[in-house]
Amino acid sequence: MGDGIEKVVEQGQSTPNRWSTRLAFVLAASGSAVGLGNVWKFPYITGSHGGSAFILLYLLCLAAVAIPVLMAEVMIGREGRMSPVGTFDRLCSQHGIYRRWQICGWLVMIAGFVILSFYSVVAGWAMAYVVRTAMGQFTWVTADGAAAIFADLVEDPERLLAWHTLFMGLTILIVSRGVRGGLERAAAWLMPALVVLLLVLVVYGTRLHGFRAAVDYLLRPDFGALDHGAFLAALGHAFFTLSLGVGAMMTYGAYLGRNSSIGGSCLLVATLDTVVALLAGLAIFPLVFSNGLEPGLGVGLAFQTLPIAFGQLPNGVFLGTLFFGLLTLAALTSAISLAEPAVAWLQERRRMSRVKAATSVGIAAWALGLGSVVSFTEHSRIDLLAGSIYEFLDYAASNVMLPLGGLLVILFAGWVLPRSVVLDQLGGNHRRWPAIWLRLARYVTPGLMLLVFLESLGLLA
Ligand code: PHE
Repeated sequence: MGDGIEKVVEQGQSTPNRWSTRLAFVLAASGSAVGLGNVWKFPYITGSHGGSAFILLYLLCLAAVAIPVLMAEVMIGREGRMSPVGTFDRLCSQHGIYRRWQICGWLVMIAGFVILSFYSVVAGWAMAYVVRTAMGQFTWVTADGAAAIFADLVEDPERLLAWHTLFMGLTILIVSRGVRGGLERAAAWLMPALVVLLLVLVVYGTRLHGFRAAVDYLLRPDFGALDHGAFLAALGHAFFTLSLGVGAMMTYGAYLGRNSSIGGSCLLVATLDTVVALLAGLAIFPLVFSNGLEPGLGVGLAFQTLPIAFGQLPNGVFLGTLFFGLLTLAALTSAISLAEPAVAWLQERRRMSRVKAATSVGIAAWALGLGSVVSFTEHSRIDLLAGSIYEFLDYAASNVMLPLGGLLVILFAGWVLPRSVVLDQLGGNHRRWPAIWLRLARYVTPGLMLLVFLESLGLLA
């Protein structure tokens, strides 16, 4: 199999597949983690599962499950130095591991591809909102008006198709340019700008009469409000928001220099990601409660609330355009990481050029995305099992494939990979932290995940 990444470099790529510095890795990994999951998904699933108690579950899942899995992914990636499929292949043959573990590589790569397909559709909404805010459509908009504008967009498959196509095209373009040229640069200035704008929205929210209700809703735990499936949703979202179980972090880990600390970098990424999500919640829920909206509004929550704020803020047109522009870019840095594992795999296996690999993955994901494009209207939606194609793919990816991929990854890192490799990867000069991590990874994390799975199957009632 040889040294895949080095070979890729030989195949006419202008920059080597390594991050230039540790900071570059942290930025790119944060770029992957922070995206629609934080601003769009986190608030709406928090609203659908009753608020604060859900947030607590989510934080618990982050700390005890998702962060250890994040470290496992980065570590496995850095040890294997290839695409997820190549990495598992290589580690199996290098360490004499049972070859069936290769399935892991496939599972995570397919999950990433599935998510990319619908992620691009929702990112298209954010792009559409750049234009709508810039045209001043939201000036003094009411809650009903904002809802109507949202419905107008998502119920028009033709328009969704156009935005979806544009977004996927941009993703292909950036991925084609490679690790340093494309991925690194996109992430460097985006995050701070997004955080600042969210802060502006939070400050605006503090002046609304619904602010207190929002704070209560978000911070005073009401366990009675937890519904069945909340635990699995919290776990699934912890994975989604940290880009786990899709091989994205594994692939980024493959580009990480040998001397960079994995634990510290991962903690930083997870903290940043959580801060952005909580800020988004604090920006959105005051608007919900001040405008008599339902927290459980569903997929449209962010898109039906934030425009109200921009409609009333001084310079709202400017700020709103900037905000949705940044959200689109945040989605782009996530989308490129969703595409990266499959692209790296095509380069390795099929010896494709980076441009060709990126284009192939993009077109295939675009085609699968068509199912989601038609998912938001009654007359066009095609149902799969209990819901639209979008709902089916989202559920299958977030609540089944990601946690399953994550479970396999942590078991692989905790039990299968030689202990010496783990200690060496995580430790550097320290011995204590890696040993603690190993204990978490062996018992606590898989144990908790098992509990969540059992709970979601209704076996723990
Ligand atoms: N973490 C990204 C977000 O929160 C989504 C994502 C999932 C990206 C999986 C890559 C892999 O928007």
